[in-house]
Amino acid sequence: MKVLITGGAGFVPSSLADALLTNEEVEVVLVDNFLTGRKENIPVHAKARFIKCDVNNYNEIAPIVTAFRFDYIFHYAAVVGVKRTLDNPVMVLNDIQGIKNILTWQKVLG
Ligand SMILES: NC(=O)c1ccc[n+]([C@@H]2O[C@H](COP(=O)([O-])OP(=O)(O)OC[C@H]3O[C@@H](n4cnc5c(N)ncnc54)[C@H](O)[C@@H]3O)[C@@H](O)[C@H]2O)c1
Repeated sequence: MKVLITGGAGFVPSSLADALLTNEEVEVVLVDNFLTGRKENIPVHAKARFIKCDVNNYNEIAPIVTAFRFDYIFHYAAVVGVKRTLDNPVMVLNDIQGIKNILTWQKVLG
């Protein structure tokens, strides 16, 4: 089973990856643009792979989703934090494009 986790260098998503990787049947691809994520969070595991990517950029995420044909996508990539979102409202709006990118590709691939 192939799983994509967006925001994979973040706290919650990397913890999810750690948990999923305890299942031998799961391969995990993590993507992140390091807006707030940390390299140290990314699991070091034979069945884990990291790709630096801005999920809000269609041209960056589309080839990844097409190449791997994931069974599941957990979409966590987002601008987080009250102060950061208040300071960067337009950046928050850009995340809607990221949601659209993920939903579009799930639909295309079935
Ligand atoms: N921590 C909580 O209590 C909590 C509660 C409710 C919801 N959430 C949600 O869970 C998710 C993860 O939160 P977290 O607390 O682990 O924060 P986090 O900052 O540790 O993780 C978010 C990750 O997304 C990445 N990211 C942001 N924009 C991106 C983009 N355009 N493309 C690729 N990567 C991108 C960041 O670099 C970061 O690694 C968020 O969507 C957040 O809204 C968290």
